[in-house]
Amino acid sequence: LQSATPAASDVASRTPPYTRLLKRLHEVRRLLPTRPLTLAEKILFSHLDNAEESLLEGTSNGSNIRGNATIKLKPDRVAMQDASAQMALLQFMTCDLPSTAVPASIHCDHMIVGEKGADTDLPNSIIGNKEVYDFLESAAKRYGIEFWPPGAGIIHQAVLENYAAPGLMMLGTDSHTPNAGGLGAIAIGVGGADAVDALVDAPWELKAPKVRGVRLEGKLSGWASPKDVILHLAGKLTVRGGTGYIIEYTGPGVQSLSCTGMATICNMGAEMGATTSIFPFTPSAHVPYLQSTHRGPIAEQAAAIASSPGPHNLLVADVGAEYDDEVVINLSELEPHINGPFTPDLSTPLSVFKEAVKTNEWPETFGAGLIGSCTNSSYADMTRAESLVQQASAAGLKPKADFFITPGSEQIRATVSRDGTMETFEQAGGVVLANACGPCIGQWSRTDGVEKGENNAIFSSYNRNFPGRNDGNRKTMNFLASPELVTAMSYSGRTDFNPMVDSIPLPDGQDFRFQPPTGSDIPSAGFAAGDPLFRPTEPTPDPSASVAIDPNSDRLAVLEPFEPFPQGELEGMKVLVRVKGQCTTDTISAAGPWLKYKGHLPNISENTLIGAISADTGAVNTVTDVDGSSHTIPELATKWKQQQQPWIVVAEHNYGEGSAREHAALQPRYLGCRVVLSKSFARIHETNLKKQGVVPLTFANEEDYDKLHGCDEVSTEGLYDVLQNGGSSGNVNLLVKQKGTGAEFRIPVKHTLSKDQSGFILAGSALNLLSQRGKD
Ligand code: F3S
Repeated sequence: LQSATPAASDVASRTPPYTRLLKRLHEVRRLLPTRPLTLAEKILFSHLDNAEESLLEGTSNGSNIRGNATIKLKPDRVAMQDASAQMALLQFMTCDLPSTAVPASIHCDHMIVGEKGADTDLPNSIIGNKEVYDFLESAAKRYGIEFWPPGAGIIHQAVLENYAAPGLMMLGTDSHTPNAGGLGAIAIGVGGADAVDALVDAPWELKAPKVRGVRLEGKLSGWASPKDVILHLAGKLTVRGGTGYIIEYTGPGVQSLSCTGMATICNMGAEMGATTSIFPFTPSAHVPYLQSTHRGPIAEQAAAIASSPGPHNLLVADVGAEYDDEVVINLSELEPHINGPFTPDLSTPLSVFKEAVKTNEWPETFGAGLIGSCTNSSYADMTRAESLVQQASAAGLKPKADFFITPGSEQIRATVSRDGTMETFEQAGGVVLANACGPCIGQWSRTDGVEKGENNAIFSSYNRNFPGRNDGNRKTMNFLASPELVTAMSYSGRTDFNPMVDSIPLPDGQDFRFQPPTGSDIPSAGFAAGDPLFRPTEPTPDPSASVAIDPNSDRLAVLEPFEPFPQGELEGMKVLVRVKGQCTTDTISAAGPWLKYKGHLPNISENTLIGAISADTGAVNTVTDVDGSSHTIPELATKWKQQQQPWIVVAEHNYGEGSAREHAALQPRYLGCRVVLSKSFARIHETNLKKQGVVPLTFANEEDYDKLHGCDEVSTEGLYDVLQNGGSSGNVNLLVKQKGTGAEFRIPVKHTLSKDQSGFILAGSALNLLSQRGKD
């Protein structure tokens, strides 16, 4: 199959509205005449719903917008993956509109299991998920959303190849949406309810992020790859280091990177909690990539804008733009890194990893090497990995660990198949999985005999490595590395192997040593389009199409609105669980087999907080009721829901880190949670809670965490006033009545509620408010 050139209308609908954006930039310049702007500010501010209100209100003449002002944005586009699209569409449907207000796409990638290989896994997954795919496809048809069927590819790769463009602003219902920042877009991961804002043309609210500059100097060479830039940076900044920031890459080193390399770097900005990450328009990288993905006209427009005089240049930062802080990385000195296990910020340079394995008593061998995913399945990634496989095959070696390849899209799969790369992998014993998330999201049927609960290691080029993330086994240590390193290490099967200096013994007594990988950024014969079955549907709404939901389904359920906030304080809530340590969205709403129930809130709620450790019992998913009986967390929550007993969650730092998964907010809300009280929140999750009508509060004094216990009774004081006054400042306290003793004490708490968010909470949820407005 030859490369398919999209119709001119496709290119037009995929081109950012440059004329409008430049006009708005002009208006922003009028309001902020003396301030040089970062690239992130230019693109964000050009998408403001009301520039005057956002830039000048509540700030001293626009000088302290970042980190302070709440801005209202009108994104250009929305992308949704199949797992989160279900709830986003169920919510959108309650608004009763004929079509989406902005172009949107759905990508069926999360529910496909990786086991034996694409040829058997894909048809099996299509059969197993038919009901959900039918629902998504029928809703897409009705509302004019482009539907990418199962097997077409992973959302972020498809977005990069088709929709991302310099200056675009988009929302995606997946936390790695910032991948599109590699092509100069501001792309932000959100929950479905936020996506619904854009889909119904309501402004989307964001606390104006600060901007952290990452200045790249030098040039990558040898084994060092773009993945190592972000693995190193994650180690430096930690999983909380990006919170409240956009990461903007600058400096001469940018010129040496490919577009897909930039995307890998932006993708994993999510691992540091960054709002998003962005690279400036870089002709050497972006023009060839846009051209080879059939978007030559966009490349031309972007190049013209980027060469226009300073004030009108939307696509690069102004000279003299100031960053809230700056990190410098010298690419020439960067060595490969390995991050993990269990957290993406535990970063170890390859040269000392051997020692770290010993010191930490990590397993000395590993069972599987997995390359690809949305993070690392570019042509460069695949061909560089191929160059290593070719070397090893020529020496007669086969991988010692199972070796899996996940292409990010049908376009990539078809291209590397055409160019012989896939054959090289397969002849070496590699298993090519479907163009989908598979093992990256717990959809991995392991066949190598590793039992649940068994300590073991794997290496992957993915982006996440929380416990249980890949195979549902919390003891599987996933070490993150570049595809090149994962490939080379798979030939040794040892975690302490350093392919830059170590050798592998050959049967003839010789030693085999890898030479540094080589590859190409862009295929010389262009990208192949692949199977036409995997092309998206037309974005034309069809009001006669009916949306398929079986009332007896156990996978899809029409949403019922949540009850509004009471006419007064929240009283008599009980602490369901005081969570100890890390609490990610995987902890709150596990993925893997549960992904099946994403469109059925009652059923998926049975996994609520099953990964949480109770600080009271010290055990995972074990809590105690008032009468001393022991329960799983969802069991007790369900019992309390039936008793109409509202409850709260108490937690430590960065509650809800990890992903944009709105189920982590919806499920507790459905089961009766009214407040989450933590030491701090991950940004997306905090917003998701507010949208679903759960009040996120933080301790004014962190040590108060120790004073609370399961089943303590909690009431708010001052919260109702704050909500009624549109989130204005005002003291909020919690009155706690201790379980058992009945002793009472107060703890001061803080909130970040804006006017709109206060409205959501009072109405019961953002959706309640939106549908009320629609009916007014
Ligand atoms: Fe899918 Fe993993 Fe990316 S789940 S979207 S491949 S982070």
